[in-house]
Amino acid sequence: MLDLVENRIEKYIDELQDSYIKELFKRLPVGKRLRAKLILKIAKKDEAIDLAAIIEMIHAASLLHDDVIDDAMTRRGAPSINALYGNKTSIMFGDILYSKAFFELAKFESEIAKIVSNAVTQLSIGELLDVNLTKNFNTDIDIYLDMIYKKTASLIEASAECAAILSDKDKDAYAIYGKNLGLAFQIVDDILDIVADEKKLGKPTMNDFKEGKVTLPYIYLYNALEEKDKEKLKSLFKKEVNAQEKEWIKNKMIQTNSIQKAINYAQKLGNEAINAIDSKDEELIEIMKNLIYREY
Ligand code: IPE
Ligand code: IPE
Ligand code: MG
Ligand code: MG
Ligand code: MG
Repeated sequence: MLDLVENRIEKYIDELQDSYIKELFKRLPVGKRLRAKLILKIAKKDEAIDLAAIIEMIHAASLLHDDVIDDAMTRRGAPSINALYGNKTSIMFGDILYSKAFFELAKFESEIAKIVSNAVTQLSIGELLDVNLTKNFNTDIDIYLDMIYKKTASLIEASAECAAILSDKDKDAYAIYGKNLGLAFQIVDDILDIVADEKKLGKPTMNDFKEGKVTLPYIYLYNALEEKDKEKLKSLFKKEVNAQEKEWIKNKMIQTNSIQKAINYAQKLGNEAINAIDSKDEELIEIMKNLIYREY
């Protein structure tokens, strides 16, 4: 089924009849396709292929913009489009993927088109919040959760909800499943920025704090540190840290259990996701586990 999604995305790109866009598209390695897999597990229908292709194009567009925002030179184990062609190309290629995805979305019933397009508005508001949060050292967990809900969970929530609509399942239950999964997913992404192997992850590590992102493990860390160390952590915020400072951060994370606390929080959200739907659905439990217990 996933092959069909790949073919559908390629077909959409071909329809643009533009050789430069085809070239750029070839420079975009295939990702984990988690959103497509989620949709296909919930809705085993032909229309689900189109929806999955649309969502993955939207997701790819958001990454093209995100790598400009985050100054990230690697994506999916390869140089990012902004690294290869510059920010302007990455932004416009993102816009092309977004608008082609919306063009294809227009053939769906309006309920689905509205849910997905609204999620993209939320995603963009979330990315903007993420940028604005870098101005200060935010240690408020609720502000962090609101931001990650918008930037990441909203599209995963919409994916699950729309797949449920396509297959006449309980859309509200699947929306809750998708939302909690999405929140857990971003928390794990934020943990992997600190603990993952850069090669396996396929994108830069220890980049978030340098970019001014005080993610959940950093919030837990800050709150657990004594005054002197709080000041030291703050002094490293938005700085290019050296190997010794990186080690200091990682050691303090371990000593204060900050990584583990963040993992626990993601697990709690994962369980809430499963409780929202048929808690015996092995496939959906597996998706949740794959999202949380991952190395990249
Ligand atoms: C990365 O998403 C951006 C986040 C929302 C954390 P993925 O980790 O799903 O990226 P790909 O598609 O597999 O590269
Ligand atoms: C990005 O979050 C979420 C969206 C693209 C909307 P991150 O900035 O943490 O994603 P990565 O780590 O670059 O994949
Ligand atoms: Mg990023
Ligand atoms: Mg980002
Ligand atoms: Mg990240």
